[in-house]
Amino acid sequence: MRRAAPAFRANFLALCLALMLFAAPAGAQESSLLGLPPVPAMVAGTSAMRRLGEKLFFDRGLSANGTLSCAMCHIPAQGFASNQSALSIGMEGRLLRRNAPSLYNVAFKKFLFHDGRETDLAAQVWGPLLAADEMGNSGIGPLIARLRADAEYRPLFEAAFPEEGATMMTLGRAIAAYEAALLRGGGRFDRAVYGGERSALTPQEWKGYEIFTGKAGCAACHLIGPETALFTDQSWHNTGVGFRSEAAGGKRLVQLAPGVFQNVDLAAVGLAKTGAPNDVGRFEITNAPTDRWAYTTPMLRGVSESLPYMHDGSLRTLAEVVEFYDGGGGANPSLDPKIRPLELTPNEKAAIVVFLEAL
Ligand code: HEC
Ligand code: HEC
Repeated sequence: MRRAAPAFRANFLALCLALMLFAAPAGAQESSLLGLPPVPAMVAGTSAMRRLGEKLFFDRGLSANGTLSCAMCHIPAQGFASNQSALSIGMEGRLLRRNAPSLYNVAFKKFLFHDGRETDLAAQVWGPLLAADEMGNSGIGPLIARLRADAEYRPLFEAAFPEEGATMMTLGRAIAAYEAALLRGGGRFDRAVYGGERSALTPQEWKGYEIFTGKAGCAACHLIGPETALFTDQSWHNTGVGFRSEAAGGKRLVQLAPGVFQNVDLAAVGLAKTGAPNDVGRFEITNAPTDRWAYTTPMLRGVSESLPYMHDGSLRTLAEVVEFYDGGGGANPSLDPKIRPLELTPNEKAAIVVFLEAL
């Protein structure tokens, strides 16, 4: 009897451990994608939260007049961005100031929005929901009341958040859990760089990788770590994109329909009404002169899907982006010192483009 005790205890411990593993929420597990860190537990959530979040993300009923969902600006087949418009088009056709960013790997972003003004993915959700020119809800209460009364949503909220149901917090957490599952990793780049499978990238892509991390200095901001790569330094920089657009006199080439472009005077299409016709980036948040025209460093995985590029969608293709950097960005007094003319050869530029496409 006595000798059996330790064995019994060991079995009991193993059983407890197994039960704990089974009971752990699915989202709290380590991200198994090669080249990505684990998804922060704060946003990972459970599968019930993700299911609910997915339904909310695609639901036009979340906008004031039932026309706009998150997915209409963050289009899944377009890298969770919008390929057709440089600047987002919101409620009743209102043109926004900025390009819809891709949502791939957004769970890892420390500063959200192009100016980094939000730090909490679940709280971010209320930005577009309440913005008059985005989803146009006049308040939080009426939307929550609608969801609480909805026969389809009630059981989904109960399953995801027992005893809480639909609240300002749970709505945000559900959508954040869905977004946190939009991962891009474990691809050819990761197999080649982190998995030791050299042939997963072509020789030209490897050349692009070497220029990206070497001569062109891209990886100084779009970081590639020893075990994982998020391609961002979680900070902001003045690359001169914002300065160039301002220098263009408030006019911008806007795509109205596939293949149809028109030079639009931003003041004339109602942007003056926002009270901030000029976009000066991070400066608007901090008022620090060094933050003028500084924008957060985007993560580049899946970047070939989410054209056009930059906070204002002013560059159409990856080749244009590489040209922009090669020319030293948009020269201005507070340009980031890491941005300088690169003197890349046509072959080197082409190699960077194919490398970016491989991400
Ligand atoms: C009308 C188009 C539009 C709609 C609708 C919209 N967004 Fe966005 N989204 C944008 C734009 C434009 C930005 C960038 C705004 C800025 O930087 O000031 C953005 C930024 C974001 C970001 C920050 C990403 C990053 O890399 O920093 C997240 C997350 C996001 N949106 C999620 C959502 C969710 C969730 C919804 C629905 C509740 C939603 N969006 C609805 C256009 C839209
Ligand atoms: C000084 C830091 C810095 C360096 C160096 C840098 N970038 Fe960037 N990159 C940024 C920032 C900041 C943005 C966003 C600018 C904006 O939105 O206006 C950006 C945007 C981009 C985008 C657009 C992504 C999108 O989703 O819109 C691509 C592609 C890109 N960079 C590739 C490169 C390449 C290739 C190089 C090297 C030739 C490079 N970057 C060098 C900071 C940097």
